[in-house]
Amino acid sequence: MTVHFIGAGPGAPDLLTIRGRDIISQCPVCLYAGSLIPEEILSYCPSNARIINTALLDLDGIIEECINATKAGQNVARLHSGDLSVWSAMAEQIRRLKEANIKVSVTPGVPSFAAAAAAVGAELTLPGLVQSVVLTRTPGRASAMPETENLENFAKTGATLAIHLSIHNLEYVTKTLTPYYGKDCPVAIIYRASWPDQQIILGQLSTIETLLSKEIERTAIIIVGRALANQSFDESSLYASNYNRRFRPTTAQEGN
Ligand SMILES: C[S@@+](CC[C@H](N)C(=O)[O-])C[C@H]1O[C@@H](n2cnc3c(N)ncnc32)[C@H](O)[C@@H]1O
Repeated sequence: MTVHFIGAGPGAPDLLTIRGRDIISQCPVCLYAGSLIPEEILSYCPSNARIINTALLDLDGIIEECINATKAGQNVARLHSGDLSVWSAMAEQIRRLKEANIKVSVTPGVPSFAAAAAAVGAELTLPGLVQSVVLTRTPGRASAMPETENLENFAKTGATLAIHLSIHNLEYVTKTLTPYYGKDCPVAIIYRASWPDQQIILGQLSTIETLLSKEIERTAIIIVGRALANQSFDESSLYASNYNRRFRPTTAQEGN
């Protein structure tokens, strides 16, 4: 028996992968992470499935549910929002499950930073302008940051920053980044990307705080960088007519 970890995507039910949906539909037990998983995704569970909201459980309780189900011969679908590779708490669950000799599988999901970028129609890497994206956060009540992973250090690179779990720290974010990116650097805040109540707030490092409404306190990504709203970037070599690619050679001979 297997515990299947599934990235359930950023919110819109049709941003779940087909593989994720098929696994969910075959598991008699489903554990899901609270309010960030839409009801529609739970409707893929078999009609008699045991469906448990893990927002009400601690790690021991979650692992106990998984052990009980697998001992009873039942596969488990374990749903987390977005993708599992960032801030999912999957690693600690897998460590415990492996100690208990329980098999696991991992199915990726659409991460929230990608849904946020899509909401504003932005490519976060632009030729000649910026070629890296940093997925990061600021320190939280329960999570300190490793010393070198601070916003100043990331800002020195000029990369596009996709800042998670930090909407309550917006003042700190703008203050810290302004010396590096400039007051006029574009900022996009995307609240609940892909949900029906999605909101987009566009501004600059100097204005974004005044534009943000007080009701937005969580489930938002702050994207900062010159890739937003910038038209002065190079065209990529990928589609350039004079760029010799393996599958689109500039001469017949070069393709041989
Ligand atoms: C615990 S982390 C989960 C991240 C998730 N594993 C992912 O792949 O995006 C929760 C944070 O992700 C971001 N987030 C998750 N879903 C979001 C959404 N639909 N729109 C905007 N931000 C979202 C917010 O920054 C939120 O505070």
